[in-house]
Amino acid sequence: MARAADRDPLWYKDAIIYETHVKAFFDANGDGIGDFAGLVQKLDYLEHLGITCLWLLPFFPSPLRDDGYDVADYCGVNPSYGTLADFRRLLEEAHQRGIAVIIELVVNHTSDQHSWFQRARRAPPGSAERDYYVWSDTDQRFKGARIIFTDTERSNWAWDELAGAYYWHRFFSHQPDVNFDNPRVLDEMLGVLRFWADLGVDGFRLDAIPYLVEREGTNCENLPETHTVIRRLRAALDREFSGRMFLAEANQWPWDVRPYFGDGDECHMSFHFPLMPRIFMALRLETAEPILDILGRTPPIPETCQWGLFLRNHDELTLEMVTEEERDYMVLAYARDPHQRLNIGIRRRLAPLVDNGRRRIELLNSLLFSLPGTPILYYGDEIGMGDDVLRPDRDGVRTPMQWTGGQNAGFSGAPATALYSQPITDPVYGHAAVNVEAQLRDPSSLLHWMRNLIRLRKQFQVFGRGTLEFIATSNPKILAYLRRWGEDTVLCVANVSRNIQPVELDLSSFKGATPVEMIGYTGFPKITGERYFLSLVGYGFAWFELRGVRPSGSAAQSR
Ligand code: NOJ
Ligand code: CA
Repeated sequence: MARAADRDPLWYKDAIIYETHVKAFFDANGDGIGDFAGLVQKLDYLEHLGITCLWLLPFFPSPLRDDGYDVADYCGVNPSYGTLADFRRLLEEAHQRGIAVIIELVVNHTSDQHSWFQRARRAPPGSAERDYYVWSDTDQRFKGARIIFTDTERSNWAWDELAGAYYWHRFFSHQPDVNFDNPRVLDEMLGVLRFWADLGVDGFRLDAIPYLVEREGTNCENLPETHTVIRRLRAALDREFSGRMFLAEANQWPWDVRPYFGDGDECHMSFHFPLMPRIFMALRLETAEPILDILGRTPPIPETCQWGLFLRNHDELTLEMVTEEERDYMVLAYARDPHQRLNIGIRRRLAPLVDNGRRRIELLNSLLFSLPGTPILYYGDEIGMGDDVLRPDRDGVRTPMQWTGGQNAGFSGAPATALYSQPITDPVYGHAAVNVEAQLRDPSSLLHWMRNLIRLRKQFQVFGRGTLEFIATSNPKILAYLRRWGEDTVLCVANVSRNIQPVELDLSSFKGATPVEMIGYTGFPKITGERYFLSLVGYGFAWFELRGVRPSGSAAQSR
């Protein structure tokens, strides 16, 4: 990859992001825990798959009570995964293959084992050291703030014996929130940012940013003071580095996420949390409406900004951004077994969510890769890995990558008892049935299909950069939309129902154009009249390049 400073500053718009945890990918030294050296060994696999950006989950020293989101030292590396030198090597090797690397900046909270907290609880009340965190004599302040980890936490306050005071935490009680009202805290975070940016990381996922600042009488989310903190981080990034990116983790409604892009002076990217459950809803309800509805309520974002799209990630499939009725429906449709539920969400991987239905997996990926935004894949979903809902917390979706059908799924040479987590072994999703080695050999595998889709997407910048216009259809089970950028116009159609469907599309403004299906490169009949007729098999989708489009405006229904 070109050095960060030299490449297109909007590179993240064309990226294909792959999310993984170092510990889960490949264990090079045979101690049962994945490591940087192992990840380096598997970069050829990722390059072959076609991804262009690696997002690493937290790898810093940590007591691992929240899988590393409980950071004990921001500028170090957990020795189980290797050394800082190993991380540098990974960065170098990734860059050589044209793969950018983004890491986590856990700005909202630390581990209670962090030296800042250990110092704070011992420091006198009112001192700058004490004020690295948010303290109180009572647990009655900020009552307007909801509890996020509803399965484990009863309050956002926890009593600290040593300090003789309560401290504020939005997540687990061992994760005290830092206090951004203390200017030293921002200075510290800027130091962390500089440390990793200097090493050459290409971007940061800003964890849990809606909760940075608390104010009485509010719900303590998305406050103006929080946006000020983000603008300061961004200003430093822009002033001191080039070609780097911020990805916001703000699990909020689109209109509340919009401010995290600012005027192009906060985050470059932000996850589209509300879209994700609605894609799954559309599939079960067999109507495109939930997707049309949420994208219709998604405000435009600045030119330099981009949505981050995903189907699954390392957390539960969150249902925070749906109505209560929709939540009940999703639970009924996708989590009938109570073990599948966690907090306000569903802890399952992609393949099991759709009953291992290959067509459904392909359909969902077609949306991920063609709706406006940058697609983010969760490791293992490219081969259809399964989960284990009987494991604690979110461990069941964080199992070792399944490389082979052999011992320890080819993930590690350690004795099975030493693994950080046992690979999935059930007959349908276990490593004997689902693994990279077998899928590389099988030209019809999901892995090959994903690789082709990625390759296709990368040939057309319109997917990462183009506008979105929905097309009126005669059939609510069909989602149809245009992506346009420069000379390119792509028509995407998706059948969210299980059965074959006919559809008439209003393509009147494209009279004379010829749709060419993009996977098979097949020419379709020219568009002659108002209505264009297509039929799509159950869960079918198609992308058409419209050739010979006149440059005039369009009558398509624009959102
Ligand atoms: C969001 C992360 O995705 C999740 O895994 C973590 O538990 C919380 N932030 C708290 O850091
Ligand atoms: Ca290891």
